[in-house]
Amino acid sequence: MRVLFVSSEVFPLIKTGGLADVAGALPLALARLKTDVRLLMPGYPAALEAATHRKVVADLGNHLGAGPARLIEGRLAGSNLPLLLIDCPQLYARAGNPYLGPDGKDWPDNAKRFGLLSYTAARLCADKSLIGWQPDILHGHDWQAGLAPAYLAAWGGPRPSTIFTIHNIAYQGNFDPSVLTELELPALSFQPDGLEYYGNVSFLKAGCWYSDKITTVSPTYARQIQNSAQGCGFEGLLTARAKDLHGILNGIDDAIWNPASDPYLTQHFQPGDMQGKAKNKAALQRELGLPMQPGRLLMAVISRLNDHKGMDLVINCLPDLLMNQHCQFAGLGSGDALFETGFTELADRHSHHMALHIGYSEPLAHRIMAGADVFLMPSRMEPCGLTQMYALKYGTIPIVNATGGLADTVVDFELEGPLNAGRGFVIEETSPQELRRAVLRALALFKDKVEWNRIAAGNAALDFSWKQSASHYIDLYSGLLREGGGA
Ligand code: ADP
Ligand code: GLC
Repeated sequence: MRVLFVSSEVFPLIKTGGLADVAGALPLALARLKTDVRLLMPGYPAALEAATHRKVVADLGNHLGAGPARLIEGRLAGSNLPLLLIDCPQLYARAGNPYLGPDGKDWPDNAKRFGLLSYTAARLCADKSLIGWQPDILHGHDWQAGLAPAYLAAWGGPRPSTIFTIHNIAYQGNFDPSVLTELELPALSFQPDGLEYYGNVSFLKAGCWYSDKITTVSPTYARQIQNSAQGCGFEGLLTARAKDLHGILNGIDDAIWNPASDPYLTQHFQPGDMQGKAKNKAALQRELGLPMQPGRLLMAVISRLNDHKGMDLVINCLPDLLMNQHCQFAGLGSGDALFETGFTELADRHSHHMALHIGYSEPLAHRIMAGADVFLMPSRMEPCGLTQMYALKYGTIPIVNATGGLADTVVDFELEGPLNAGRGFVIEETSPQELRRAVLRALALFKDKVEWNRIAAGNAALDFSWKQSASHYIDLYSGLLREGGGA
């Protein structure tokens, strides 16, 4: 089975969030199940540099007014996974964030940048002569890949089966209809039974409308996006397509996120021997300049800082938790200016109990995960969430809101839950009071070290690896192929 994966970010080449982790790990898990997966992505400078075994495999010409482009084949660093990179300097030779310019705003030509990604994916599907390899399945991820099935529909003719995965429905890739011409899409596609969405061209709508199957990254989120509270306007379409919509829980890559072998940690630990966890806490307190007191509950956040992630709740209850409940806090993140400022002000005021790093750091993320006692994730919406699973694996007890993938992976420690869910503290309402109450419950349990360590070790032993999820995707692919593809 040949599968073309299309993603705008892939760990370890370029990453802004969980999509990169998934796009870097799921293809490897699929390859282990004897699938021939190739990964198509934009040739950002960081990606071109980090890919190994690079060679030019096709001249892509000059399409969508993007300037001359070539297709470069390489391998994902650290594995053997084949990568296809679109080398189009005019669109992608820009340093930093893949979506935003230095002013923090979307690049003005994002429609073209990700239009070319989708267009190239469609060409690889439609024209075997391009690289002598043609997929049976086109698997696009998030809005940046959404136009690929729209091109295939516009061009007609034989095509592979198509799957579109929604990682976050709040990001829709909506653009002014004037982009239609430069994207070389037929005027006819701009209609409600097509890629039109409230008067805009929507890449997400195209992905959902034209794909044979739609998946999202947890069973609960698959249900939630069929309702107006979480559907972000897509609830009608998704309800209509309910029989083609599947929620498949993400896994985590335990070659990267594993406290028994994590290269960023000085002390390793594992479910049967959690002693190293305390040493990581001490090392983290030392690194962050926090008092090295094992008895203080060390809470952590590693996150994009925005209100979807419930960061206002954290800011709101931190002063009380630091001052009156004698907790410590380690924060790592970046995002909305409002939240960056809010956290920074708190860190200035409570520097003795709180350490903050505004920015992005993979090594620090691993060390915080290993050293903290509690991981705060009171997200208002969370399609899947990977960090709560990293926390479970690292014996850091999560406090989460019962939404999306958080509801599927964490059960309140006082309740009975699914067998493979971790134990943590679950809030049912996103308010600072509820979050504070959950931390107080954690503090009470923290006093009972034996019970605390038993729960942490139990969580660390859970299997969140990609194996099971990858086999669900294989079942979906096989089902589509049995149905005879989309031609
Ligand atoms: P989302 O994709 O919505 O941001 P996820 O929980 O799925 O949320 O994935 C977030 C990923 O990004 C995790 O791998 C997490 O460790 C990482 N991450 C988020 N913020 C930072 C940061 N400031 N520094 C390092 N890693 C970060
Ligand atoms: C998105 C979601 C997050 C999910 C990730 C990977 O970024 O916000 O919940 O874990 O994609 O699927």
